[in-house]
Amino acid sequence: MILDGKAVAQKVLDEVRAGVVRLKETRGITPGLAAVLIGEDPASKVYVGSKKRMAASLGLASPDYLFPEGLAQRELLDLVDRLNADPAVHGILVQLPLPKTLDEDEVMARIAPAKDVDGLTPTSLGRLLAGAPGMVPCTPAGCLEILDHYGAELKGAEAVVIGRSRLVGKPLAQLLLARHATVTMCHTRTRDLAFHTRRADFLCVAAGRAGVVTGDMVKPGAWVIDVGVNRRADGTLTGDVDFPSVSQRAHAVTPVPGGVGPMTIAMLMKNTLLAAERQGRTQ
Ligand code: GUN
Repeated sequence: MILDGKAVAQKVLDEVRAGVVRLKETRGITPGLAAVLIGEDPASKVYVGSKKRMAASLGLASPDYLFPEGLAQRELLDLVDRLNADPAVHGILVQLPLPKTLDEDEVMARIAPAKDVDGLTPTSLGRLLAGAPGMVPCTPAGCLEILDHYGAELKGAEAVVIGRSRLVGKPLAQLLLARHATVTMCHTRTRDLAFHTRRADFLCVAAGRAGVVTGDMVKPGAWVIDVGVNRRADGTLTGDVDFPSVSQRAHAVTPVPGGVGPMTIAMLMKNTLLAAERQGRTQ
């Protein structure tokens, strides 16, 4: 079975669209998502462009803040402070990775937790670890949304996550743990990757490298969530798993494109609506 992330994302976006209308009508609040992009990274430009377009199509306000590479740390922190204090801004998205001259950790930590729609501040990540999530990072939240939509039973299952990034691997492992899966985390230093992947009922791959998982590494009947986005030499996109061989063995697999990708942006919109609803209550 192919897990249709595009369709699940559409369902989430329809709910968000209705929620935005409701919030405007009942409380006069237009959710605002501020997008901050520094530098010229082509992939980041594409991501921020699609987030802005999606926000606009749902009726959200989406001011963007675009700066050349040379922006000073101090100026970026000042901008975050201004956005934190701006009542029209309910969510702040600082697109990662930041240029090497900037301190990503300090910038993330500066974002007000109430506006942390990416779920990447120490407060949000700490809450996730404590089992009391505030904002959940969008890509891991999207993976869970797909699994839930298709009725996956995670309790007691073997879940293996490849990749230990702050953006995906670590928060995803926490979400799976919160659902009572037995979670194994693999990464670049893992000695025998296939030994672990072959035990997985749920295999989530966020390695950032094409072809890390092939069909022979997958347990027959497993669910495979492919978080990878890699560009082939011919310009087309491919995930981290070898789709032709993996889809032969797996019970269910997400395609690339059309799997986790559309979910990330949908969850960002959902988090922004949630943030606006919560902040509206305290105004
Ligand atoms: N870069 C790649 N994915 C993401 C994301 O989900 N959020 C942010 N802020 N930057 C990213």
